[in-house]
Amino acid sequence: MQTQVAILGAGPAGLFLSHLLHLQGIDSIVIESRSRDYVEGRLRAGVLEKGTVDALVEAGLGESLLREGLRHKEINFRFGGRNHTLDLDDLSGGRYVTVYGQQKVVKDIIAARMAAQGKILFETKAEEILGIETTNPRVRIVTKNGEQQEISCELVAGCDGFHGISRETIPSSILKTFERVYPFAWLGILAEAPPIFNCVTNVYHEERGFALLSMRSRTLSRLYMQCDPNEKLEDWPDERIWDELERRLEGTEKCTLVRGPILNKGITPMRSFVAEPMSYRRLFLAGDSAHIVPPTGAKGMNLAMADIRVLAPAMIDYFKTGATRLLDAYSDTCLRRVWKVERFSWSVTSMTHNFPEESRFDRRMRSATLDYLTSSKASGTTFAENFVGLPLENSE
Ligand code: FAD
Ligand code: DHB
Repeated sequence: MQTQVAILGAGPAGLFLSHLLHLQGIDSIVIESRSRDYVEGRLRAGVLEKGTVDALVEAGLGESLLREGLRHKEINFRFGGRNHTLDLDDLSGGRYVTVYGQQKVVKDIIAARMAAQGKILFETKAEEILGIETTNPRVRIVTKNGEQQEISCELVAGCDGFHGISRETIPSSILKTFERVYPFAWLGILAEAPPIFNCVTNVYHEERGFALLSMRSRTLSRLYMQCDPNEKLEDWPDERIWDELERRLEGTEKCTLVRGPILNKGITPMRSFVAEPMSYRRLFLAGDSAHIVPPTGAKGMNLAMADIRVLAPAMIDYFKTGATRLLDAYSDTCLRRVWKVERFSWSVTSMTHNFPEESRFDRRMRSATLDYLTSSKASGTTFAENFVGLPLENSE
């Protein structure tokens, strides 16, 4: 098989890239180890920055997003048993976020690619990237029938997530990685229950730690709480989850969760991770293959989409003019944003989660930081600017 761009991974990054390339008449093949049903059903992020929404809409992918996405102009912080609201609209000069599930973004792009006869090879694993130092790299794949094939191309996009193979293609003498693994995980549920607050609410309880009340619609709640990373889902029957969430919400300003059937639950480990550089010869990493943020701050998918908003124009420029200037600048351009978003996600995680072996003093400091965040215009502005999304870096 032959194409202009071989794209590893049909997550938001790989799919969006293949769509943007197609709009400019550039051919790609997306290689995805999982089935279409699996990737369309995978429950993950849900908060889209305005820049992400604008990019999807501009690319003609906004129909359901504009109809079903919930615009949020506020965010809540609950600590000391009381709610404090940040007015994102006011603090960020009229910007906001949109709640729309990642799996819907994935579904929308797959539908658009299918309608355009786009090539997505589901249940096909990329095993190895060969000849990355040549002008004609190849990707060795294994199809669902166990057949081995090669895709030859001009450029390779490594959008295959944290556990993919593309990052390893960069020689170890060149690749530098930076990592922090957190001593807690998120236990997340999707429940058929109306959200109790109408905006995303970050909860901090000095003894019991973090919880997050989010939503997917007016009847579906998406709820998370910090838990021990070694905990097993079997140890969390539904009633225990609701009881623990309720304990983290206790306080003078009363609120009662509406308990409903739990449709999905999962435990997500938390890490910060960056690989530098994000490109090597004809390979370009984008999204989780190059960087991971802890989910606090809701940045993972937005960061993946921001990479593509830089990579797609660079590839298009290369195919239209032969110029490599934008491709050469890709890694540095992205990394400036990546590190700022890493900083934000790390700081919101540190500000809202209890760490083992802390003193009461440390926890009171956390409450004081949240008090400052929600009572100082300067601090609130800094949060809002990051949460709604920093402007895209310029490649010039
Ligand atoms: P992915 O979505 O991971 O896509 C990579 C794709 O590559 C996958 O479909 C995978 O199957 C495929 N692949 C991997 N290896 C190969 C191979 N060898 N051959 C072919 N295909 C391959 N972010 C938030 O903001 N909020 C959240 O609540 C949140 N929850 C998360 C929960 C989990 C369990 C995980 C893993 C991530 C979560 N994130 C969250 C992060 C966010 O979902 C990711 O940042 C986003 O999915 C990144 O998109 P991506 O396209 O880079 O990678
Ligand atoms: C979600 C919302 C958040 O604000 C966040 O930090 C992480 C995830 C969500 O709705 O999934």
